[in-house]
This record gives sequence, structure tokens and C-alpha cells, in this order.
Amino acid sequence: MDKFRIIGPTPLQGDVHTSGAKNSALPVLAACLLTSEPVILHRIPRVRDIGTMRRLLQHNGAAITERDDGALTVHTPEVTQPEAPYDLVKTMRASSLVLGPLVARAGRARVSLPGGCAIGARPIGMHVTGLEQLGARMEQSHGYIEATVPDRLRGCLYTFDRITVTGTEDLLMAAVLAEGETILENAAREPEVVDVAELLIKMGARIEGAGTSTIRIQGVARLHGAEHTIIPDRIEAGTFAAAAALTGGDIRIHHCRPEHLSAFLAKLRTAGVDVREEGSTLHVKAARRLSSVDVDTQEHPGFATDLQAQFMAVMTQAEGISLITERIFENRFMHVLELARMGANIRVEGQRAIIAGPRRLTGAQVIASDLRASASLVIAANAAEGETIIDRVYHIDRGYEKIEEKLRGLGARIERIEAK
Ligand code: EPZ
Repeated sequence: MDKFRIIGPTPLQGDVHTSGAKNSALPVLAACLLTSEPVILHRIPRVRDIGTMRRLLQHNGAAITERDDGALTVHTPEVTQPEAPYDLVKTMRASSLVLGPLVARAGRARVSLPGGCAIGARPIGMHVTGLEQLGARMEQSHGYIEATVPDRLRGCLYTFDRITVTGTEDLLMAAVLAEGETILENAAREPEVVDVAELLIKMGARIEGAGTSTIRIQGVARLHGAEHTIIPDRIEAGTFAAAAALTGGDIRIHHCRPEHLSAFLAKLRTAGVDVREEGSTLHVKAARRLSSVDVDTQEHPGFATDLQAQFMAVMTQAEGISLITERIFENRFMHVLELARMGANIRVEGQRAIIAGPRRLTGAQVIASDLRASASLVIAANAAEGETIIDRVYHIDRGYEKIEEKLRGLGARIERIEAK
């Protein structure tokens, strides 16, 4: 397994450009299954999870070609194999995003249950009950969900028990081809949900309310091809903003939609960080003195759980006690023990982490555990004195495009040690 070797401390300075959002590209790619016509997509990031989704779509019958300008064309004249096999799903839970499109387009689907992952159980019960209410017959056997539709999905009113991002996206993609009206209540409001809805509307779907808690869909008989550019990755932007704050740096983050991470930026400002929004550029300059700030992760537009680990790394340098409460996932503090190996003073009590700062960070050997925990270790390593070796960096390759190149562009001393 590849490792990163990072020498610190380095104040990260300069310009960086975000890539397209991984968590938008995944449902957007799945949405291509809904039409027999080609869909052209721009700014799809070249990261491991996207590679997995491309292999999955090809397994379903899609032809995917890449233009020399980097645009992807996804063309599924026919769904030849409406299934998501375990060996693909076990590496990426978001594979369940093909469930809705396969049921809607092919009238059947066989999708492996995702199983757990590092940050939690990650069930998909709401995806299943939602499809049932849309008229699909859902069975579970041998670790797979099997869905069949007698004739066509029928619109319904479905209220999510709790807010789920991919659950909202999955059912939205199923409902666009259902007969009649579907109303999704207590829907997720993330910008990535809005982005996939915008593609679906370009494909001929009739959707109102994406980005609010109530999404109203009038089903249509079929969808046509379209062209779409996905939104910038707000979590990548937030990760670089945290890097500037933590390393005493000064970074301009281009290709950004600051309004997509306003809760996170508000907390950075409260901590004393100088955060300026200059159109699609976010200019972040470290504070001379960081103040401790409390955070509760929430569904959008609240503080994003995907930025919790990165913000915790920043709070290791803040004066006083910070309380970080993780309300979305049951096990999203794996970065705590690794940050502690670097000198951080963090105690975990249930879903709450108590950070006492400032504590000087020193380089250490640490292990990445999930995508965003890895990111927090990478930025901490740039603030730490000496050498840090981060193992299992395939976690970070899942969601950060050209991360070494982008960090080197900001002055980081980082190299990848390829596994033998
Ligand atoms: C999406 O995951 C993101 N992934 C995650 O980003 C992100 O952390 C998460 O939303 C929360 O914002 C993608 O968009 C591909 P959920 P998702 O369903 O949809 C529970 C990253 O780092 N739940 O909103 O899987 C669930 O267990 C990844 O890029 C049920 O109980 O998350 C969790 O506790 C990590 N039953 C909570 O809801 C269900 O049927 C929110 O999960 C579905 C979810």
C-alpha cells in the first residue's frame, strides 16, 4: 500500500484549483443509466471512487469514452446487466446509487448490500422502503437486494425517517420515470442533490424543490441525452481552507462555490481565520492566534460531517477547549488517535471529542482510515515538526484528485512512497 512522506512545518501558500465534486459525479454518472442517449459530462474528477463507478456502469451496459478535453461521454443504449456485484460495492458504498436508475430503466435490479465501512454501518434501508413505496417488489437474499417492477413505478408520497444524501438521490432518480407525481419529504438539501437534479431536468425530467426538504417530481415516459458540468468539490475546498488555517498559510482556492460551505467558513472566521470570498475564489489567511470553537456536524446547510476531521486538526492549534460533536455517523473519530500520536490533546466521550490546544505537532508514523480522516492527517503533517509517514493513502486517492501535485504547488514537501 502506498504511503505519503511529508516533512513539516510548511506554511502552505499560493493558488490551488478545486476539481469537480466526487459526491456530485457519483450520482450524476448513475443518472446516465436513465436514458438510451449519450450524456456528456465535464469536470468529472479522476479519483478512485469514480473509477469504481465507471466500471460499475460498464458492467450494467454503458459505454464510456473520454474526449481529449477530459469530457466523459456515457452511453447506455440498453441495460444489459442490471446488477451491482459485491466486489464493486464492497469498495464503494455509493454503488447503491445505481439501484434507483436500474429499477426505473430496466424494471429490475440486483445490488449487493454495501456492508459497513470504517465510519459506520451505512445501511440503505430507506433506499429500499422508498422503492417499495414506488411499487417495486424488494427482496433480500445472499447479501443482495433484488428489485422487480411488475409494469412501471408509480409516483407516491415518501417521507424519509432521517435525512439521507444518496437515499434522496437514489429515489429522485427512480421517481423521474415513474407514472404520476412523487413527493419526497425530509429530503437532503446538499448542493450535490441539486446538481444531479439539474442534470435530470436537462435530460427532460420534471423536478421542483431540489435543495429544499420537499422535492416534487412529475414522472415522464423517457429521458433524453444532455451535457452537464458538475459543481466544484466543496469538501476539497474546505480541506485546503483548513490547511491554510492550520499551517499558518495563505491560500487562494479557485473554482469554488463559497456558498456551498458557508457553515464551515463561518466557524473558521469565528476561530479568527481571515476568510475572503472573491467571486469563485476563496482567499484564506491564517490567524495569528486561533480561538477554540465548538462544532456540531449537521445535514446541509449545517456544518458538513465531511469537514469535521479537517476542522479538528485546526482546533489542535487553537487556544482553549473545543468541543466537536459528530451527529451524522457513529464512528467518525478514527483520526483522533492518529492526531494524538502527532502530539494533539484530544479526548473522546461517545459522539463528542474534546480538543485542548494549542499543542505543538511533531511528525510521526500514522495510518489513514477513511477518506476525510486521511485528509486531516495530511494537513496536520504539513503543520508538524519533522517527518510524517502516512500509510494506506489509497483512502485519500478515493476522493482527492492529484493531491500531491496540488499540495506541492502550495509549497508542501510531500512524496508518495509506492508499495513494492
Ligand atoms: C453521503 O453519504 C456522502 N457520500 C458522504 O460522503 C457524506 O459523509 C454523507 O452523505 C453525509 O453528508 C456520497 O454522497 C457518495 P447518508 P451517504 O445516507 O448518502 C444513515 C465522503 O467522505 N442512513 O446521508 O451514504 C447513515 O448510516 C463520504 O465523501 C440510514 O440509517 O450518507 C448515516 O448515519 C463519506 N439508513 C446517516 O443516515 C439509510 O437508508 C446519513 O447518511 C441511509 C442512511
